[in-house]
Amino acid sequence: MWRRVASVSHLFSHSKSTKFNQGASTFKIWETFTSESEIPTPSKGSPFVTFVLGGPGSGKGTQCAKIVEAFGFTHVSAGDLLRREIASGSAYGSVILSTIREGKIVPSQVTVELIQKEMESSDNYKFLIDGFPRSEENRKAFEQTIGAEPDVVLFFDCPEQEMVKRVLNRNQGRVDDNIDTIKKRLEIFDELNWPVINYYSQRGKLHKINAVGTVDEIFEKVRPIFAPLSK
Ligand code: ADP
Ligand code: C5P
Ligand code: MG
Repeated sequence: MWRRVASVSHLFSHSKSTKFNQGASTFKIWETFTSESEIPTPSKGSPFVTFVLGGPGSGKGTQCAKIVEAFGFTHVSAGDLLRREIASGSAYGSVILSTIREGKIVPSQVTVELIQKEMESSDNYKFLIDGFPRSEENRKAFEQTIGAEPDVVLFFDCPEQEMVKRVLNRNQGRVDDNIDTIKKRLEIFDELNWPVINYYSQRGKLHKINAVGTVDEIFEKVRPIFAPLSK
């Protein structure tokens, strides 16, 4: 069981460390990447990690629920973990709350620690890490702390107008689901998330999914990616 080990890093057999090329060619790479990459074969001895990327309201959480149901993953939403930390009255709570209210990114050390604890306390070995990494800082912190790279990266590609509409209709009482914070979240997404997306594209791990359509239509584009996995 995961919680019996000191750190999840021991369980990752496929750790790699490479430097991100921050050159001007980044966006050319984005234009040419394909989403045909094959997924590695998981084994129960080491965790199988999927990062789930996409702007606010692109449908990450909704599709994660479907993937959990169909393929038996454990869903670890970085945003949910941060909101749970606020609700628990932790020492970090007020800083996390103001950061979320401003649509900014919480320091990676905090988020990675929460993700690590969640992974270590799970009996599962297949993880969907939703809403993470949001920035290169997030990505590097995960690599350094956990000592691993993801096996698969999903990117839900959704037009801004559609994301704004969905977030404004979400109706879950979130402090950041208002038009002012959404604008800031979209700016931060544009500024910080693209380098992460390009990084994984370059490494052949990115699966870009058009996130426009019904929930079921979108899931039918996700399903083949995980088809080699059994539940
Ligand atoms: P994210 O986790 O990326 O922020 P969510 O999964 O929470 O996005 O979805 C945001 C809102 O949009 C939710 O209210 C959800 O029910 C709705 N939603 C999700 N997928 C779709 C879709 N394909 N079409 C219309 N609405 C959707
Ligand atoms: O993914 P979600 O929409 O739930 O995230 C809500 C907020 O949580 C983000 O806008 C951001 O303020 C914070 N967050 C973060 N770092 C992450 C994920 C979420 O700071 N990796
Ligand atoms: Mg979400």
